[in-house]
Amino acid sequence: MIKKGIILAGGSGSRLSPLTKIVNKQLLPLYDKPLIFYPLSILMLTEIRNILIIHNPNDESNFRKILGDGSGFGIKIQYKIQDKPNGLPEAFIVGEEFIKKESVALILGDNFFYGQGFSKRLKNFAKNNFGSTIFTYSVNNPKDYGIVETHRNKILNIKEKPKKTSSKQAITGLYFFDSNVVNFSKKLKPSKRNELEIVDLIKIYLKNKKLKVEEIGRGSAWMDTGSIDGLFETSQFISSIEKRQGQKIACLEEIALNKKWISRSSIKKQINFYGNCEYSRYLKKLI
Ligand code: G1P
Repeated sequence: MIKKGIILAGGSGSRLSPLTKIVNKQLLPLYDKPLIFYPLSILMLTEIRNILIIHNPNDESNFRKILGDGSGFGIKIQYKIQDKPNGLPEAFIVGEEFIKKESVALILGDNFFYGQGFSKRLKNFAKNNFGSTIFTYSVNNPKDYGIVETHRNKILNIKEKPKKTSSKQAITGLYFFDSNVVNFSKKLKPSKRNELEIVDLIKIYLKNKKLKVEEIGRGSAWMDTGSIDGLFETSQFISSIEKRQGQKIACLEEIALNKKWISRSSIKKQINFYGNCEYSRYLKKLI
């Protein structure tokens, strides 16, 4: 059972410059909400309520302005600095005190997931995680991601941004790990690009026969928001669905209310906080 989650919300967001020269990537708008609402909603839908946000130096106050200590969403949020982006597994070294001896989920602050039945599947995998569970998604540009190469359901290899691969199965930015993850991360050596690599961590679990790879099917969406076009296209995707359904994706208060983690009076407080806007009007309709 996984009860703790880390959102890695650091990085320079260089592909999104000049936008990211003033604002951290995870605080940029993805349609009608800050980007970080979306990965946070995924953790909440997985029933993870104890969350650590790892961020760049000087960014804590900005994240706090919008998320606070999480009580507005019925969760607990703590914050910790990553001095430099030294690679994803560093999250488990920075987060050691938070993780203690428990299993943990990691989600990258710029990853967007959407799909019918997805949260139910996630809850199941979080309950039954032994070792590591990773999630793959078929993409047209595998060279931009970590890739799983398989043959007849057997994992042959795992590679980071391979120049050549016949596989289209990209490793998404959502990972479940058991409590060994801290020690395994400490043993990793920096790669040629001088970063600790998440694929090297995953390979340890593969070697120990403790890796489960779950494919997110074509009926779901995993979008890249790390480029200008990706950010724009994902915003359009969210806009289309929200307008058509009259329902919001990643409304944190709605998720918390449905799970009975917060009361109607907390929603009223949030409405006061957001002020007169479309998001507040949506919250009003909920109560
Ligand atoms: C990172 C990981 C990569 C993964 C991707 C998912 O890459 O290194 O394995 O597929 O996230 O978003 P980055 O986007 O940091 O280059």
